[in-house]
Formats: sequence, C-alpha cells, structure tokens
Amino acid sequence: KLEESKSIVLEEPKGDYQKIKIRQGIETRDKPVKVQGWVHRLRSQKGLMFIVLRDGTGFLQCVLTGKNVQTFDALTLTLESTVEIKGTIKALPEGKSAPDNHELVADWWRCVGKAPGGEDAFTNKVSEGADPSILADSRHLVLRGETASAVLKVRAAVLSAFREEYASMNMLEVTPPCMVQTQVEGGSTLFAFDYYGQKAYLTQSSQLYLETCLPSLGDVFCVQESFRAEKSHTRRHLSEYTHLEAELGFLDFDELLAHLEQLICGTIDRVLANEASAALLQQLNPSFQKPTRPFRRMDYRDAIAWLKEHDVKTDEGKDHEVGDDIAEAAERKMTDELNVPIFLIKFPREIKAFYMKRCPGDERFTESVDVLMPGVGEIVGGSMRMSDSKELFDAYKHEGMDPSPYYWYTDQRKYGTCEHGGYGLGVERFLAWMTNRWTVRECSLYPRWTGRCTP
Ligand code: 4AD
Repeated sequence: KLEESKSIVLEEPKGDYQKIKIRQGIETRDKPVKVQGWVHRLRSQKGLMFIVLRDGTGFLQCVLTGKNVQTFDALTLTLESTVEIKGTIKALPEGKSAPDNHELVADWWRCVGKAPGGEDAFTNKVSEGADPSILADSRHLVLRGETASAVLKVRAAVLSAFREEYASMNMLEVTPPCMVQTQVEGGSTLFAFDYYGQKAYLTQSSQLYLETCLPSLGDVFCVQESFRAEKSHTRRHLSEYTHLEAELGFLDFDELLAHLEQLICGTIDRVLANEASAALLQQLNPSFQKPTRPFRRMDYRDAIAWLKEHDVKTDEGKDHEVGDDIAEAAERKMTDELNVPIFLIKFPREIKAFYMKRCPGDERFTESVDVLMPGVGEIVGGSMRMSDSKELFDAYKHEGMDPSPYYWYTDQRKYGTCEHGGYGLGVERFLAWMTNRWTVRECSLYPRWTGRCTP
C-alpha cells in the first residue's frame, strides 16, 4: 500500500535551467531546460516512465528514470495532471519516434496539480463516442484533445492570414458595434434585448456600418461576432459566429468577384506557407487541395436548371422553379456533385436582402453572389449595394421597413454616393471546409446553437 509520507522526496537540482515552451525544444537541445505542462499521455515500462507533455505550443516526450519514478507522485500520476520537469532535450536515434524527433531526459520533476483518477478520470469525461450533449457540456475538456486543439490552431492561422491578405490590399480593419437598432438580414433571426428601456438587437451583420466607413477610411473589413436566432438545427448554423466582412468602394460586380477569389486563394497560400499551420492542416485534412482560379461562375437560373435536370427536389419535394430559395440540402448536393468552388450569382430580388443592387437590364435579379464550397455549401454571401437614395427608399417600402432608423445608412447615398459592394464570410464555415469537419460546431471555441449557451 502506498503511503505518501513514507515515499522518496526528490531534491530539486540547483543549476541554471532555462524555462522554455515546448515549441522552443529544437533550438534548446542539449542544454539544461525546464518545461511545464499537462500530462497528455503516460506509459511506464521496466523502471522507465514516459510522459508526453503538452503546453499548448506542442508536445514533448519526457523520460523519467531511477528515483524519479519511485516517488508517491510518480506511482500515482494521472493524465491531465500538471508537472514541471528539468532535464536535457536529446535527439532520438534513428528508428525511434516522438514529437519533433527528440525527448527530454529528466533530471528532476514535480507534480504541480494532480488530476483525479478512477471514476472522475479525464478519459471518462471525454471518451470518444460519448453522448454528443455530454461532450458539448464538456467542451472545456474536449478542447484539450489533439483534434479540437488543432482546429483552433488552424483557426488562429486563418484569421492572421486573412488580416495579412487584407493588409496587402491596403484595406483597414474596423470594429463595428455588436449592439444595434437596425436589422440587415431580416427580422426573423434577430436576438432582441432591452437597452436602457429601448429595443435593441445583437448584430446580424456589420455590413451597414462598413458601408459608412468608405468615405473616410476607404475599403474596410472587420472580424466581428454576428448573432442569428436560427430556428434551423443544421450542421452549419450557429447562433453566434465569427463574421469576416468587407466593403469596397468604386468597383463593379466583376471586380468584387475577382477580389473574393484573391482573398480566398491569397489567404490559403499564406496558411500553407507557414510550416506549423500547413502541418496541422495536413493532419486534419490530408486531401486538402487549394482551389484553382478562376472559380466557376454559375447563374442562379442555371443552378435551378441544373437542379431540375438532376432531379434534386425542394425541401417540399417539388421541382425547383425560378424564384425558389435553394435550400441547404439541394445546394449541398449540387456543390458536392460539381466538387469545385462556385460563385453562384444573380439571385432573384424576392429571396435576397433589401439593399442589393439590381442587375442592369433585369430588375428582377440582383448583383449578388454566394460562394459555395464542396462539403459545406455557402461560405460567403455578398452583393453590390444600391447606390441611389430613391431606389433604397423604394426597397424599404417594398420590405415594409420604417426608413427612419436607417437615416445614417441612407445618408451614404445623399452625401456623395458611389458604386460599392461587399460580403460576409462565415469563419467557422470556411474552417469546416478547409479542415474537413462534419459541423461548424467543431470550428468555434465555445459554439452556441439553438438551446446551447453553455459552457
Ligand atoms: O449571407 P449572409 O446572411 O450575409 C450577410 O449577413 C451580409 N450582410 C454580409 C455582407 O454582405 N457584409 O451571411 C454571410 C455569411 C454566410 O455566407 C455564412 O457563411 C455565414 O455568414 N453565416 C453563418 N454562419 C454560421 N451560422 C449561421 N447561423 C450563419 N448565418 C450566416
């Protein structure tokens, strides 16, 4: 029987051990170092103890021997406990494998915080195949897994790459408000709340604010949370998602499409150019291929014809007709079948938002675009905007919207108008496509969906 009080106590070595993060391992090989982290994996054999240590920057195999494996803590160590280890990182001989092809040979170690074993053990909390709602409740623990953390690391790389790509295009980042009193994408998905006695909403899109920035800041973008009270329980809808939006002035529809191609391809090139993020992407989606340009352009009316020809029905089981919204299932079927990125363009006015510019020569359709990606479907929605006040007033009326709260939006047409357009990209959807995840829920730190606001 183990007794803590009678066990061996290790004496901490004095010497000068450099405190490092695991990522610095290669550059600090053969020097005395101190690492701190969580026990990711644990194995004992023939008087040796192998710990794979995790600190968020990487994984490091550590080997403990001699007295180091005879202490009470060594004999009772559990996964996810925190430890501190002093020793030297040595390259591994040929034929042996470990992260970064090296291991830390420990001089000394101590347990900082022991995680529970037995029934309460980490592995019992997040076991694969557990009930999805239990896993959702345990998101804070699931995040420690190799897959979940890899997705979040790619997410960080993708966000940096987007920002770098925008900087290379001379576009400025702005931070629009989350609390608003106007709608952008229809009243049915608004989250309303009481704002000092007035009605306010969580933003659905920062588009209207971005448009107001053009005259002073030029082309702009933002990375802002958007909120949608979605009733749909699908694998690509969240109630809160990260919305990458941009607005560009003095351009036409073709230029908007070319810009979108550049943004998507330029961002992917940047992610792939970074060795660490390219390796994570390879781990998550080994068959990822960056899209080739130009993206396929497909007119909405041709998509309807395609769906009819291929006998893909509406959600109500009918043939698709011009004027129908293309529902998620049909859109996904078409995108998967064609298996290339698609610019689906020129949607009918009736199924799109009030602000979209009409196609010159055919007022029934709009200069709008959805970018569709295989496996996910729509990842971007964008359009040219109405640049004429009168047309905009007619649109408010047509939608039954009171124009007064939109005075600041309308003013853009009054004080020096210009042709302009923009788009919103769902960051989680972009990631689900890139990393080949089943649902956007895997691409958000703490996803929110219908009924789920914890942890
Ligand atoms: O097509 P949406 O609704 O367009 C707009 O909001 C425009 N005002 C954007 C703009 O032009 N600035 O949304 C844009 C994108 C979608 O293509 C999708 O990728 C994502 O936002 N999105 C969602 N992502 C996750 N969960 C939801 N509930 C989403 N709703 C939209």
